Amino acid sequence: MTTEASASLISDESNPVYAKTSALENISKAAATNTKGLNSDVQELRNRQNVFAEDLHGDDVSRTGIKALLGKNKQAQKEAVAKYLKHWDGLTDKEAEEKRLADYNESTHSYYNVVTDFYEYGWGTSFHFSRYYKGENFQQATARHEHYLAHQAGIEDGDLVLDVGCGVGGPAREIARFTNCNVIGLNNNDYQIKKANYYAKKFGLQDQMRFVKGDFMNMDFEPNTFDKVYAIEATCHAPELEGVYGEIYKVLKPNGVFAVYEWVMTDKYDETNEEHRKIAYDIEVGDGIPKMFSRKTALDALTNVGFEILKQEDLAKTDDPIPWYYPLSGDWKYVQTLGDLGTFFRTSFIGRTITTNALKLMEKIGLAPPGSVDVANSLEAAAVGLVAGGEKGLFTPMMLFVCRKPAN
Ligand SMILES: C[S@@+](CC[C@H](N)C(=O)[O-])C[C@H]1O[C@@H](n2cnc3c(N)ncnc32)[C@H](O)[C@@H]1O
Repeated sequence: MTTEASASLISDESNPVYAKTSALENISKAAATNTKGLNSDVQELRNRQNVFAEDLHGDDVSRTGIKALLGKNKQAQKEAVAKYLKHWDGLTDKEAEEKRLADYNESTHSYYNVVTDFYEYGWGTSFHFSRYYKGENFQQATARHEHYLAHQAGIEDGDLVLDVGCGVGGPAREIARFTNCNVIGLNNNDYQIKKANYYAKKFGLQDQMRFVKGDFMNMDFEPNTFDKVYAIEATCHAPELEGVYGEIYKVLKPNGVFAVYEWVMTDKYDETNEEHRKIAYDIEVGDGIPKMFSRKTALDALTNVGFEILKQEDLAKTDDPIPWYYPLSGDWKYVQTLGDLGTFFRTSFIGRTITTNALKLMEKIGLAPPGSVDVANSLEAAAVGLVAGGEKGLFTPMMLFVCRKPAN
């Protein structure tokens, strides 16, 4: 649908699309204008992040991957990398952890400012892992993993759904097509929000979704707004899980369902074991996560805020024929189709090494913005930690929790 055609539908009150788009418009506008009245520090932080993102990325969000990376404002990129790596000094004592927890908002914002183009280059527009089956290509697996969550959440035609930590909207677009629901995507990264809104328009889904700025620890939506809420590999960025789950509980309608693929350390993880802690630290530093929590902490947090647990299952089954971490581990035998060779090559150890070396050269001659190699090195630490965590069964990126907000 053209933008003009869509605009005329939006202004035609007799058309069913009108009701849908105006509801989305009202919710996203209310969130953007902060009807709740944010305190001035939060408002100031948001304005600053928005201006910074404009400086760093410029106006054109249609560029992706390496092309987008090379188009950054070099001074701003240097600043963004410094902000992200500020608290990552290799320490895991209480004081070091507390600094990272306190700075979760700026730190995660900076992390996604510097990795979004790398993610799109290596992975696509859905920033998550999936279960992989024999004969199924990477994109099918990604979509199936999203469909499964939508199915578990019971998302239906016409539902108003919140995607918490929506990335550039890959899952929202897939779930909206799969179920015909309407989605609000919440994100604290301004660059990703612009990209998500751009892609929604590009793929003709602008009547079904809006992407808005906000902190999932302090949401701007009215209580009891959404029929369903889902989150994919995003709430692990929270400094404490009760905060984000409590906000989700608040904005869900009574009887509404929340389904999440959570990143957690499994019951095998021992925080006092140095090797285990190193694996968790690599995941934290390389993925911009202030602190990895355990499965039990996540479960307790969900029940403490009032959710009734309908289902919990770690989908990272160790006996799956193809492990979820294979795109990072460099096992060519798991690649299922010729079409996946490109993705696998970019995400595998060899591909990552080639990218890092190319960036080294480009950074040296001033083509790539300063700090690009530091970012590639952090992503390398993440890959090492994720594969080790997966192989040893200490970590899962797909702890599925399905929960209901009770009617009363
Ligand atoms: C690994 S990405 C996953 C994105 C998306 N769910 C997907 O699967 O493509 C994590 C997302 O959480 C968002 N995020 C992190 N901290 C946030 C916060 N405090 N409030 C809102 N969004 C946040 C990030 O900006 C990013 O979009």
